Amino acid sequence: MPEIKLTDVSFSYLNRKEPALAKLNLTIPDGSFTAIVGHTGSGKSTLVSLIDGLIKPAAGTITVGTTSVGTDSKKTELAKLRQHVGFVFQFPEQQLFAETVEKDIAFGPENLGWSEEKVKAAVHNALVQVGLNAELASRSPFMLSGGQMRRVAIAGVLAMQPEVLILDEPTAGLDAQSTAQLMDLVDHLHRDGRTILLITHQMEQVARFADQVVVMNHGRLMVDTTPEKLFSDSRLLAANHLDQPAAVRMSQQLQEKGIDLPLTLTIKQLSEQLAPRLGGKE
Ligand SMILES: Nc1ncnc2c1ncn2[C@@H]1O[C@H](COP(=O)(O)OP(=O)(O)O)[C@@H](O)[C@H]1O
Ligand SMILES: [Mg+2]
Repeated sequence: MPEIKLTDVSFSYLNRKEPALAKLNLTIPDGSFTAIVGHTGSGKSTLVSLIDGLIKPAAGTITVGTTSVGTDSKKTELAKLRQHVGFVFQFPEQQLFAETVEKDIAFGPENLGWSEEKVKAAVHNALVQVGLNAELASRSPFMLSGGQMRRVAIAGVLAMQPEVLILDEPTAGLDAQSTAQLMDLVDHLHRDGRTILLITHQMEQVARFADQVVVMNHGRLMVDTTPEKLFSDSRLLAANHLDQPAAVRMSQQLQEKGIDLPLTLTIKQLSEQLAPRLGGKE
C-alpha cells in the first residue's frame, strides 16, 4: 500500500499570476483518512489533481508508493500515479455517459484491459459496495435519483480497485440521508484499508472521520494536524474561516461553565461524557 509524499510542490495555471499551490510539503501515511479543508480557491482541488497525475508540478516532486513524478515527467509517468489512485470528482454524476449503469461502471476497468469476467465481477462488487441493488445494473443511470447517480459514479471509480481514494466534496448537494449513507460508505472503505483523501466543507465530517487534517489557504498549506488540535485552536479556525463542529462548541461552553470534561469532537463522544454525570450508564 502506498504512502503519498509531496516535496516542495508548486503549481500555476496558465495566465495566472498567483500560484495555485506554493512550496507544499505533505506526507499522507498509508491507510490514513486525511481531510483537506480551506476556503474556495485555496488550492484543494489542485492539490489532489497533482496526486492523481492529472496535472504536472511546476516544481517539486510527488511520490505515491514507488512512483515519483516531477517537472520533467512525461504523461505516461503521470498516468502511473493513477494506478494507485481513484479520483471521485466534484459532482461526479455529471460524468455519467453510458446507456446502462453496468456499462458506465465497466468503462474504467475495461480501459485497464481486464478480461470480460474480471470486469463483470468488479462491476458487481462495486455495485454491492456502494449499496445499490444489482437490478439497477441494466437501467439507464439517467433515470436514477441524484444520490443513486452519485453512487454509480463512485462505483465506477471503486471498480478499478484503487488503494487510495480521493473524494472532492462528495456530499455537496446531497440531502441529509444520502450524505449520511455516503459518509458511511467512505468510512467503510477506509476501515477496509484504503487511504482516503476527503475534500470537504463539513467540519462535522472532519471531526467524525478524519485522523489527519490539512488546512489550505491561498495556495499554501497552513497546517497539517489532527482534528482534535485543529478544533481546539479557535484562532487557527478563525484565520482560516473554518467552523467548529457543534459537539466541540458545546464541550467548550460546558468547560467555560466549570464542567470538567475533555474536548469532544462528536455528539457521540459528548453524550458518552455527559451520560454518567447525568445519572445514566457509562
Ligand atoms: N483550470 C483553471 N484555470 C485557471 N485557474 C484555475 C483553474 N482551476 C483553479 N484555478 C485557480 O487556482 C486556485 C486554486 O483553485 P482550486 O484548486 O480549484 O481551489 P479549491 O478546490 O480549494 O476551491 C484558485 O485561484 C482558482 O481560481
Ligand atoms: Mg475545489
